[in-house]
Amino acid sequence: MAGFFIPNFKKHSLKTKILMVCLGNICRSPLAHGILENMLDSNKFEVQSAGTGAWHVGNKPDPRSIEVARKNNIDISRQKAKQFSAYDFEIYDFIFVMDKSNFRDVIKLAKTPQEIEKVSLLLDSTHPGQEKEVPDPYYGGEHGFTHVYDLLYKACEKIVSSGSFS
Ligand code: 4NP
Repeated sequence: MAGFFIPNFKKHSLKTKILMVCLGNICRSPLAHGILENMLDSNKFEVQSAGTGAWHVGNKPDPRSIEVARKNNIDISRQKAKQFSAYDFEIYDFIFVMDKSNFRDVIKLAKTPQEIEKVSLLLDSTHPGQEKEVPDPYYGGEHGFTHVYDLLYKACEKIVSSGSFS
């Protein structure tokens, strides 16, 4: 319709937008989301997370993720799981995935090479060139969540200190 224009505030916001992605959006990416959000200035950055699968949409993070975050003074209990969609390529500047299967599922929805370029394995930050994955702790015990927290913390520290977002 000529002359009818709805501005896209999300797309044109001045904040740098970062999305953490895993499979269910209840274990790994909510933790990565909480950790990175805690390290960045909320006036300049927006961090979110999503899952490639839809099973847990609307759910809180897994209690084991909430607990390991809480022990580290990060509150992720109010997060709600969302499913990754092709529209996220328009919103986010950087998309970090936890494993190679997330990478494949995310880039399947990309429409341009520029969208694919936004996507990287989170652990490429700490383990460049090794294609290292954040293991899925869902079917394991509590120790798996502590290990995942440590991997995520170091990776987030690295991407912040290396100036990846500037
Ligand atoms: P996440 O872990 O991808 O780190 O959130 C999973 C949680 C749930 C399922 C798979 C992975 N699930 O199949 O329900």
